[in-house]
Amino acid sequence: MSKTVLITGASSGIGEATAKYFLQKGWNVAATMRSPSKADNWLQKKNAIYPYLDVTKPETISSAIHETLQHFGHIDVLINNAGYALMGPLEGVTPDQLEHQFKTNFFGLVSTIQTILPILRQQGGGTIINVASIGGRLAFPLTSSYHATKWAVEGLSESLRYELRQFGIRVKIIEPGGIKTNFINHGTTWATHPDYTQMVNNLKQFTQKIDDSLPEPQGVAKTIYRAASDRSARLRYSPYGEAFFLLHAILPDRLWRSLVERIMLGKLDSRLKVNRAFK
Ligand SMILES: NC(=O)c1ccc[n+]([C@@H]2O[C@H](COP(=O)([O-])OP(=O)(O)OC[C@H]3O[C@@H](n4cnc5c(N)ncnc54)[C@H](OP(=O)(O)O)[C@@H]3O)[C@@H](O)[C@H]2O)c1
Repeated sequence: MSKTVLITGASSGIGEATAKYFLQKGWNVAATMRSPSKADNWLQKKNAIYPYLDVTKPETISSAIHETLQHFGHIDVLINNAGYALMGPLEGVTPDQLEHQFKTNFFGLVSTIQTILPILRQQGGGTIINVASIGGRLAFPLTSSYHATKWAVEGLSESLRYELRQFGIRVKIIEPGGIKTNFINHGTTWATHPDYTQMVNNLKQFTQKIDDSLPEPQGVAKTIYRAASDRSARLRYSPYGEAFFLLHAILPDRLWRSLVERIMLGKLDSRLKVNRAFK
């Protein structure tokens, strides 16, 4: 009997690449998305469905899970992938922006897990894969809101792993490095504040510069597939992220931070230099 995976945010990027890879491997795929009109030809297959699921709307989580069960009879793996980044200085972040960031990246993931848990327990097991980021254990400039959500996903996942082992449910965390998707230059929402303009422009220049050199999402899809098929107790998988964790572990903290500043923020403006002189 073919296994079934349910993926959130499968309309583009890592979610889409992952859905395609699981289909290629002969799985039943529920490639959920908040705009099923974006479903492409690749989804017109007998073993694929694309239910409407917006992680900020709990009723759509229940209905997508229900539709998947009706169609395939069981769900073996849940991949919580939907997400976006709220970037910009914390001083400029509005309560609505922060709330929406948490509703999507964190509370949406929590609701999806809570909805599917009784089903996985009744089935006698399963796997929950949460897509965090290298930014779930490291932090970079002007990304505080996004990091807060991904650090929360890391903590939740690591703790959850202990409580679900007794039910045969595995929890896995995927921590991709920078990947070429809509995420970095199109999927991002920016908070603004006039006193951070120079810094924001420097970071935008950096992200535009690196965009073309980033790896495609297929490599992450393969890692997610490996995690889904891995019966070991391994918790974390870091496609294109290992080098960052290694550097962070071996460099002294101050050197790491200074490298991050130089590389991501480029030439510091004179006011920032003055502020640094007082540190
Ligand atoms: N790309 C990177 O460098 C990178 C690195 C580390 C981690 N990640 C993580 O990887 C995951 C996927 O991102 P990506 O890089 O593949 O970016 P992406 O191409 O922008 O894909 C994001 C997906 O999430 C969906 N989404 C956003 N809000 C949603 C909501 N409320 N309900 C349901 N779906 C929603 C989007 O749907 P729409 O098409 O409707 O907008 C899209 O399908 C995210 O969790 C991101 O944090 C990405």
